[in-house]
Amino acid sequence: MSNLPSADAKAAQDRLKRAAAEAAVALVEDGMVVGLGTGSTAAFALEALAARVAQGLRIAGVPTSEATAALARRFGVPMTDFATHRRLDLAIDGADEVERGTLNLIKGLGGALLYEKIVAAASARFVVIADETKLVDRLGERAPLPVEIVPFGLEATLGRLADAGLAPTLRRAGGSGKPFRTDGGHVIADCQIGPIADPVALDRQLRAMVGVVDSGLFIGMAAETFIGTAQGVRGLIPGG
Ligand code: A5P
Repeated sequence: MSNLPSADAKAAQDRLKRAAAEAAVALVEDGMVVGLGTGSTAAFALEALAARVAQGLRIAGVPTSEATAALARRFGVPMTDFATHRRLDLAIDGADEVERGTLNLIKGLGGALLYEKIVAAASARFVVIADETKLVDRLGERAPLPVEIVPFGLEATLGRLADAGLAPTLRRAGGSGKPFRTDGGHVIADCQIGPIADPVALDRQLRAMVGVVDSGLFIGMAAETFIGTAQGVRGLIPGG
């Protein structure tokens, strides 16, 4: 039996993603430099942004992946880069898990976590959009934790992650069997660790590990989230 959601369930989930995305895009103002997230929810935001651009909104977007850049080109959303704009006004992105209360996140199942984190960190306001299935009491409840690592010596780094009890699995690209490569040329270890008791300590531990570039833990970064629920879109702020 397949674990995939039925077409009806996927359509319902897409409606929630779209509603959350549209709520976030309503925050975009004329003249802003906007971080453009990666993933299916962020794609709905890009579509909503494109509709506003078509009506005359003037913005420039900084994409968090080559896939998002391609989508922005297709939708006619103007783009810029860090050479032109060091600071962004707003970034809108999805997440794989959103922790209730803290709004700490796990990101990176789409493979773009490093660029997403660079864009979020450069933004005055980082807004997260998701459907209600992404809300968890503890990070790691459902999603693995992606850790981006340097390809050189990856066996040694995977060993270090395993020794730390993080049960890493090297992510493979599609059916090819080859390691998945991020836009930055790195590889990803997906760590199946279950609920994370202390994400701040784990983030610190991972960042200190030689060979690790960054982890999918986004701690204290989200200024607010818009969660699409069957009852409507809920806006949440940390602690709220
Ligand atoms: C991409 O690397 C991820 O961080 C995405 O933001 C995340 O996987 C959410 O994607 P969906 O909106 O497709 O669930």
